[in-house]
Amino acid sequence: MPIRSSNDSWKALDKHATDLSEQHIRDLFTADTHRFDSLTFRADQVLLDLSKQRITDHTLALLDNLATSAGLAAWIEDLFTGQPVNSSEQRPALHTALRAPRLPSLELNGQDIMASVHDNLDQMDRIVRRIHQGQWRGFTGHSINTIVNIGVGGSDLGPLMTCKALAECQNSAANPVQVHFVSSMDGSQLSELLSQLNPARTLFILASKSFTTIDTLANAATAREWLRKSGHTTTDDMLTARHFIAVTANTEKASEWGIPESNQLEFWDWTGGRYSMWSAIGLPIALKLGMHGFKELLAGANAMDIHFRSTPFINNLPVLMALIDIWNINFLGIHAHAILPYDGRLGHLPAYLEQLEMESNGKSVTRSGEIADFHTCPILWGEVGTNAQHAFYQLLHQGTEAVMCDFIVAARRYHQSGNDELQHQHRLNLANCLAQSRLLALGDSILENAEAEPPHKRYRGNQPCTTVVLDELTPFSLGQLIAMYEHKVFVQAVIWDINPFDQWGVELGKKVATSLLGSLESPSETNNFDLSTNGLLAEISARQKTPS
Ligand code: F6P
Repeated sequence: MPIRSSNDSWKALDKHATDLSEQHIRDLFTADTHRFDSLTFRADQVLLDLSKQRITDHTLALLDNLATSAGLAAWIEDLFTGQPVNSSEQRPALHTALRAPRLPSLELNGQDIMASVHDNLDQMDRIVRRIHQGQWRGFTGHSINTIVNIGVGGSDLGPLMTCKALAECQNSAANPVQVHFVSSMDGSQLSELLSQLNPARTLFILASKSFTTIDTLANAATAREWLRKSGHTTTDDMLTARHFIAVTANTEKASEWGIPESNQLEFWDWTGGRYSMWSAIGLPIALKLGMHGFKELLAGANAMDIHFRSTPFINNLPVLMALIDIWNINFLGIHAHAILPYDGRLGHLPAYLEQLEMESNGKSVTRSGEIADFHTCPILWGEVGTNAQHAFYQLLHQGTEAVMCDFIVAARRYHQSGNDELQHQHRLNLANCLAQSRLLALGDSILENAEAEPPHKRYRGNQPCTTVVLDELTPFSLGQLIAMYEHKVFVQAVIWDINPFDQWGVELGKKVATSLLGSLESPSETNNFDLSTNGLLAEISARQKTPS
């Protein structure tokens, strides 16, 4: 039976939502002068301010009941102890093990996976050292100074987001290696990049859990051909051994592609693609920051894991974030979620969270195979906050859609730089972050005489806003932040009774594309697809015949 109609906790929240429906966020502030203190929560360096949400203490108590009645505590234990929480694929989702200390051990099918995880980290360490110390040589004998990660989705977005976020942590004197990312199937990123690179000094990381993803294999083939055509005579074996590393759970396929075993970094089927930046998929991060920086990232995530596993729900940051989203989505009817980092370094965070949340929880069938009669994952999108202010904030302030907003900001930046201008820019940034969440939540009532303004100049507010404040953006705090979102997604899935660890909805499109490829490679007069597709194929074919 779908949970919405059968669960007393849901019914109590439904009633509470009706009771609260007339209250604007500004009324909630007027009614409770301790609201900031009672609705902010902390874990190490992360502060979570929920006071600009449409909630009261009672809302949180009811949501706490909801989490308890969904059996969340047992689910969290199942996640951490390697139970098959990915039910459709009958396997665990053990990304938490990737950032845990070597001891205590954790057995899976009779094997200590913590030993494998740490052997894997040691192998990464050796590769990183060899490259940083100029001992990894290309086919001409020159050292490698450029890394290109070829991957897509979870094999791209996490390392890309992290390398951009933590670029300032790179010690360029000790480690002058440049790290680039290529994902797009059409080859546009790769062709632009290759024209700037020296083949003799470039190493490609083929990052693919399955090693069957066509986007990645197509880019890999183009990269290998570029090396072959570089004018240096060498064998194919030598070229692949010197210029390609594979990071994959499918070592057989990587070997078939020609990557020698010594250049393969393995990870495991119990690591989901979008949860894999903590595994060897994080190699580009380790190459950018050094192994020490990568381990700091893992330590931050591990600190959040410990918090998540051991803290009562009512003070548990990922649980609270999940419950607030559920409140907004299922009880207040809000189905759009804006991710607004006030930090240019977090420019790729929205795309990362889009995959994490929408590929995990974009589901409408419950674990027992019933069609859900409630909403699940909202539509997420986002942009660096100050840029978005000049783009889509108009809709947030005056459009017809209710949107929940996450503001993410670091309290400190440039404080040791001695650069007054940059420190001023950081204050400007903070002022804008605080101003926008204030206005979105409270509306123009914060101004005197707002009522005198014409309707088109009014700001109604009442958009629920969460503010996440980090002390500063470091490998440790970024690890905490990302693990917090990961666990939030898991908690939501538990309450919605869906499996966040599979992604069957992306499979059929791949098959349909394969069936269309033949019609594009050998165009024919007659196609047997739908009328629109037939028409488009004919148009494309005609245009390709037209001389440019
Ligand atoms: O097509 C979706 C997907 O399977 C994601 O889940 C995954 O992160 C991405 O493709 C890349 O997959 P792989 O790492 O196997 O190449």
